[in-house]
Amino acid sequence: MIIYKSAKDIEHLRKSGEILAKVHGEIAKHIKVGENVLNLDKLAEKFIKNCGAKSSFLNYKGYPATLCVSVNQEVVHTIPKNYLLQEGDILTIDCGVCWSGYHTDSAYTYSVGKISEDKQKLLSVTYEALRKGIEAIEVGNKIGDIGKVIYQIAKNANLTVIKEFSGHGIGKFIHENPDVFNYHTPKTDTIRNGLVIAVEPIFTTGNGKAWKEDDGWTVITEDRQATAHFEQTILVEKGKVEVLTPFTYIEQYFVLFQ
Ligand code: MF3
Ligand code: CO
Repeated sequence: MIIYKSAKDIEHLRKSGEILAKVHGEIAKHIKVGENVLNLDKLAEKFIKNCGAKSSFLNYKGYPATLCVSVNQEVVHTIPKNYLLQEGDILTIDCGVCWSGYHTDSAYTYSVGKISEDKQKLLSVTYEALRKGIEAIEVGNKIGDIGKVIYQIAKNANLTVIKEFSGHGIGKFIHENPDVFNYHTPKTDTIRNGLVIAVEPIFTTGNGKAWKEDDGWTVITEDRQATAHFEQTILVEKGKVEVLTPFTYIEQYFVLFQ
């Protein structure tokens, strides 16, 4: 069952999203060669606390950190470890914030210094897929229309959707109905006002098979090919689509495509 949001829910979600957008902006300032990934996690933890909010991920089903920081072949749910960023890496910062009981969720894949052309393409196509997926959100359209667009963009660029992971409804819980798959699924719900969903394409240059590491969380590609992941929390209200977690703060400090 989809939990449609009331005007009061929406006010809280807006504030939650604003905080999350700023957390990402803070992290963006620190993306550089030699930065320790653990430090990024500490920064996020502090920033969220100072905003009077909570991490949505910390302690979620026992998850032990504030961020998921996935480097290169790491896909999602990567526990931050003692690792210094290297020239040529790409890394996804995935973060969730809970403010006054309302969650928002967002991810961005950064480049560190100069990256290969393959990785540049992977980042720009995945970014574009998120943008175009959001454009498919319209009252009266189907949830499945989002994935249809996203999948086609990956296919056209010869990239692979990692199908195991999908977007989701979000609100008082980090994961709610509906699933927002990154490929077309028939017979999905019709988009209507009050819907809040996280849209999150995850693409790879490889075959798309992924497996879980021994830590019980970190997912990596079987063929060790790189992955990219962009995610925003989206609201549909009064016939309009609003990005609750805009990348504007990130993009004040960080230029993805130089
Ligand atoms: N953003 C992640 C998702 O939508 C949530 C990660 S929860 C964690 O799947 F506990 F794994 F961090
Ligand atoms: Co998510």
